[in-house]
Amino acid sequence: MLFSSYANAALTLSNRIVMAPMTRCRASHADAVPNDMIVEYYRQRADAGLIISEGVPVSDRARGYLNTPALWNDAQAAGWAQVTAAVHAAGGKMFAQIWHCGRVSHAALHADGSAPAGASKQAAATQTMVPDANGKPVPTDCGQPETLSLQEIKGVVAEFAHSAKLAMQAGFDGVEIHGANGYLLDQFRCPAVNNRNDAYGGSLANRYRLLLEVVDAVAAEVGAQRVAVRQSPYGLGNGMVADPEPLKTYPWLARELNQREIGFLHLYCQMTDWIRDAGHSLMPALRDAFHGGIIACGGFKTVAACDAILQRGHADLIAIGKPFISNPDLVERLRSDAPLSKWDTATFYGGGAKGYTDYGTL
Ligand SMILES: Cc1cc2nc3c(=O)[nH]c(=O)nc-3n(C[C@H](O)[C@H](O)[C@H](O)COP(=O)(O)O)c2cc1C
Repeated sequence: MLFSSYANAALTLSNRIVMAPMTRCRASHADAVPNDMIVEYYRQRADAGLIISEGVPVSDRARGYLNTPALWNDAQAAGWAQVTAAVHAAGGKMFAQIWHCGRVSHAALHADGSAPAGASKQAAATQTMVPDANGKPVPTDCGQPETLSLQEIKGVVAEFAHSAKLAMQAGFDGVEIHGANGYLLDQFRCPAVNNRNDAYGGSLANRYRLLLEVVDAVAAEVGAQRVAVRQSPYGLGNGMVADPEPLKTYPWLARELNQREIGFLHLYCQMTDWIRDAGHSLMPALRDAFHGGIIACGGFKTVAACDAILQRGHADLIAIGKPFISNPDLVERLRSDAPLSKWDTATFYGGGAKGYTDYGTL
């Protein structure tokens, strides 16, 4: 099943293997424009049915890490246009993952020195990389966030919509809204972080209000079937606290996305392996609620593991991350049952071609 095509009303993908979004920090922080090395990296991996780009910040304040290529201005869009042209020429399809880091950030990463944007004033108990006096990146506690005002929340929605519009100008086939992994949209969902008492805090509908406003604004720019939304149920990364009612929370969102005929719901099983557990009730509940393409991600390394969940009907597509870093020809290797090369975690974030574009093919 993994090698069969997948289609919705807007797109046809040549196989069901998705390259998962992976931040690699290879752009210059000053302009955040994708460079030739980034073009080559994605071109090498165009056999995936769909590539989802690394998280691309929708504004300067949305940045939470050094050297992430972004998508808020025309120069950045022009850089991404080179990437999408190379991927298309190699027969692939590509979404941009649009991203706001929120409190997982530091004032030193923002051109104007602004504090991280927060759902609340609660700081993230995690670190990011901040340049020292000599520009050398050093692990540093995330900064003290400032609570977004209602006016600023409107601005965030507009930033996502603008970035989605630029993504289409840059030739992307669609966009994924990064609603997972403890970043801004996930911070609003999390009741332990979001202590607001306005329309964006309290009830589930209020805590998901910002995400759904972003979904509606982005879908208006690119078309609902070209939108993916990423969630990480049970994920505790970036200082998140366990959702008190995951079996209520995520199916509620899935129903909202289904009503809007959103193309894809992307689920990442961070840390615990609920996604492959046939006895776990979340995947069946999501399948009942959402009739678009469900993408499952986290720890998939064999065709048998991918096919098991596809055949069960719990997912339509499988996203694979780390194996794609070290195997540019991953699709071919899986198809021919060839051994996979090991990845080097030391070169995941930042640096040059080493550990980025120099992994060999079969
Ligand atoms: C180097 C690296 C960078 C990542 N960056 C992102 C990102 O920008 N956005 C995102 O949603 N997930 C990100 N992730 C998570 C991956 O998309 C994926 O969910 C995770 O690696 C699990 O899949 P795997 O077991 O196939 O690697 C990143 C993971 C890695 C290893």
